Amino acid sequence: MTRDYTSHSATETIELGRQLAPLLEGKHLVLLRGDLGAGKTTLVKGIAEGFHAAEADEVTSPTFTLIHEYHGPEKDIYHIDLYRLDKPGELDSLGLEDLMLEERNVLLIEWGEKFPRILQHKDAEIIILRSGHDERKVRLTTA
Ligand SMILES: Nc1ncnc2c1ncn2[C@@H]1O[C@H](COP(=O)(O)OP(=O)(O)OP(=O)(O)O)[C@@H](O)[C@H]1O
Ligand SMILES: [Mg+2]
Repeated sequence: MTRDYTSHSATETIELGRQLAPLLEGKHLVLLRGDLGAGKTTLVKGIAEGFHAAEADEVTSPTFTLIHEYHGPEKDIYHIDLYRLDKPGELDSLGLEDLMLEERNVLLIEWGEKFPRILQHKDAEIIILRSGHDERKVRLTTA
């Protein structure tokens, strides 16, 4: 399934994230793709809200900590940013495989496409393209 959306502001992207949450209900590993500043973390703010796991303001980029987790009533959201990782070996210490085994976990991963091991496990992908200063094209693809 492929769905396309257009956002005209960060606020709209957060709202879109809220709408996408139900579509990600049964997914374990969701890749968030797009350039630096495309809006991946902004979208996660809305997705986390959609799962009632966090308020948008509480969701910040896990650039340095690599993983932030937010616990909702039904799902636990793991927001992961692999931008700063270079070697596949560094992935091991994160324990992503273990996180994926847990039924209630949804992993939202930025820069995961750098690692074939992660690509191979994805079951949804959201691509964000900058189409104007504040405009973004967002495409959700699920298996
Ligand atoms: N339509 C839009 N959707 C999302 N963000 C937008 C939009 N218009 C402007 N912005 C701005 O673009 C920036 C997006 O930053 P964000 O941290 O979400 O990007 P990112 O894709 O996670 O980048 P990185 O790869 O560096 O983590 C924010 O400053 C946001 O306010
Ligand atoms: Mg980000």
